[in-house]
Amino acid sequence: MCGIVGYIGYKDVKDILLTGLQTLEYRGYDSAGVALFTDKDIVVYKDKGRIEHLRQIVGSEASCTGIGHTRWATHGVPNHVNSHPHQSLDGRFVLVHNGVIENDDELKHKYFVDYKFKSETDTELVVELLSYYVRKYKAVDVALRHLMNRLHGSYALAILDKEDPDVIYIVKNKSPLLIGKGDGFNMVGSDVMAMLKETNEFYELDDLEYAKITKEKIEIYEITGALIERESFSSKLDPNDMEKGTYAHFMLKEIEEQPFVLRRIIDEYKKDEKLYMDEEIINAVRQSDRLYIIAAGTSYHAGLIGKELFEKIAKIPVEVHISSEFVYNTPLMSQKPLFIFISQSGETADSRASLVKIKKMGYQSLAITNVEGSTLYRETNYQLLLHAGPEIAVASTKAYSAQIAVLSILAYLVGDINDFDLRHELSLVANVIETLCDENELFEEIAKKTFTKRNCFYIGRCIDFYVAQEAALKLKEISYIQTEGFASGELKHGTIALIEDDTPVIAVISQENTNLNTRSNIKEVKARGANTVIISLKSLSAEKDQIVIDDVHPLLTPLVTIIPTQLLAYYAALHRDLDIDKPRNLAKSVTVE
Ligand code: G6P
Repeated sequence: MCGIVGYIGYKDVKDILLTGLQTLEYRGYDSAGVALFTDKDIVVYKDKGRIEHLRQIVGSEASCTGIGHTRWATHGVPNHVNSHPHQSLDGRFVLVHNGVIENDDELKHKYFVDYKFKSETDTELVVELLSYYVRKYKAVDVALRHLMNRLHGSYALAILDKEDPDVIYIVKNKSPLLIGKGDGFNMVGSDVMAMLKETNEFYELDDLEYAKITKEKIEIYEITGALIERESFSSKLDPNDMEKGTYAHFMLKEIEEQPFVLRRIIDEYKKDEKLYMDEEIINAVRQSDRLYIIAAGTSYHAGLIGKELFEKIAKIPVEVHISSEFVYNTPLMSQKPLFIFISQSGETADSRASLVKIKKMGYQSLAITNVEGSTLYRETNYQLLLHAGPEIAVASTKAYSAQIAVLSILAYLVGDINDFDLRHELSLVANVIETLCDENELFEEIAKKTFTKRNCFYIGRCIDFYVAQEAALKLKEISYIQTEGFASGELKHGTIALIEDDTPVIAVISQENTNLNTRSNIKEVKARGANTVIISLKSLSAEKDQIVIDDVHPLLTPLVTIIPTQLLAYYAALHRDLDIDKPRNLAKSVTVE
């Protein structure tokens, strides 16, 4: 959601900014813009639409300093005026902003009663307030400190000052922003991917810090004005992982990468040929009397599977909470809770707000994330990485299986289990996924025949119900078919009223104890005209089941039953000719609450 990239150095900046913005596309956006420092002025190009469109409208002036932005609309519709960068009325400052200013109305009334704002954004207020403070205090750094004291909410800002062409200022609170250090140049970006083509040395900025960046120097300051010494870090990401290669879409590439990701996880979490995780983490989990899993979207669905794994394998009770709910409706806590934050990006604002809350209450936390150095990674007590590689498609696939795999290893080690070999079972799962991915044509065919209606249901019981919820999310987010993931036994208590001729109902059957009951529920909807598809494990399958999957360990079935549903969603969207990797209205990394 919203992306920032900036460069100050010796190369022509246009291509660096546009390429950087392209790597941030995955976060979700609806408009884009750049500001370029030329020898005379700062020129701004921006508009609603894709980076490709921006590329067409950007002028040819020479420039070695600039900032760029992708905007995901929060305040005001996507259009030219609301796009970033925004320039102060006096023309001196140009800035881009990621985040949401919560007190913009209050500040507008206090400082700008007679001012007619051109855009509907909160960002225009920020640039005017900065310019106001600079006029008042005659120094940009003092003005920035006043600005940070006044603004409430989340903001990552990159700022150009017409009177000082040799500097980019950046400011951060709650929204991610990193600095990239180069040789004769420096950069800023919302994540490392935006800068990785140019450099692999980075500095983090913490909340309520600002920095002054020239092509030779990086100075990071606290809000008090005190200079900060900070260690740099490098990223293990391979820029090639961010390319689609021969695939038509990142989503298909990422689905097919899942066996490889599982094998990498087995490899990363082993020592002396046995599964292994940091003892401190294992002990922290063992010492807690209840685990609280906090997450959003697909990660929340992985958390539901995590509950099953911890309760069945490690015998520790678990509650799973949607992060945006948890912040405002915190349950009564047990005596010794441990909080597990599951997040692909490590940046989801709702999850971060929950973390801030539980930290204030004095509780310990563990982040399970794909992004080393992300906000959740930095701010939790313990961390486990997903090792899934960059996930670019908005619809999460390989991060979901990586989350389940990492949770299973953690539960297994905490439970000190000897009655099955998880390492071996996970390798078998990887093989089964590989076989499933070879059956593309079957899934394409079923998708074509099945998704003929505006709505659809995925059903299942217990662990299959959790998979049904993730399957439904996958289908609705990229095909726009209204889909519900439903507990099959609950259908008859109301929802069955929605079943009519040809309503697609897809059932997931992976557990012996629920097999027959789910099959009865399928008969009930079929009798009312539903067009049913059954995904089952071989040992439980019946003759006419359309998708039959080789058996895996009963607790690991979500890793295999999810695969057909990911591919069905992919082909449903493909046949509708939709933007599979960047579905409408969605963002990959949701950095506002
Ligand atoms: C967005 C993405 C989802 C993701 C969710 C949580 O909504 O589109 O794919 O599951 O955020 O993101 P996280 O990075 O915390 O896993």
